[in-house]
Amino acid sequence: MKHAVRVAGIDHTFWCDEKDSLLTGILKVNSNGIPAGCRGGGCGVCKVEILSGEFSTGCMSGAHVSAEDREQGKLLACRVYPRSDVEIRVIGKMMRRFERAA
Ligand code: FES
Repeated sequence: MKHAVRVAGIDHTFWCDEKDSLLTGILKVNSNGIPAGCRGGGCGVCKVEILSGEFSTGCMSGAHVSAEDREQGKLLACRVYPRSDVEIRVIGKMMRRFERAA
């Protein structure tokens, strides 16, 4: 089942299958300029803030996601799986790519 992922601030929406992470969903739509990270929750390059919606998460590095980050929905897109339509804000190193696309 696919869900709409809206990227706040740049008026961009893409579809992401719930078996895919948000990062995989982003890369399926357009990998041009997206930083190549570990895709395993370890490097922190794909940090996003979840503004709304339901999701599940996999393991991610405590070095990049603190307990406070988790409470605020600041998570690693490679370890977040949508369970409903979600809205995100890109806050990690991917931000430059999204700013250029806007
Ligand atoms: S790509 Fe490395 S933490 Fe997501």
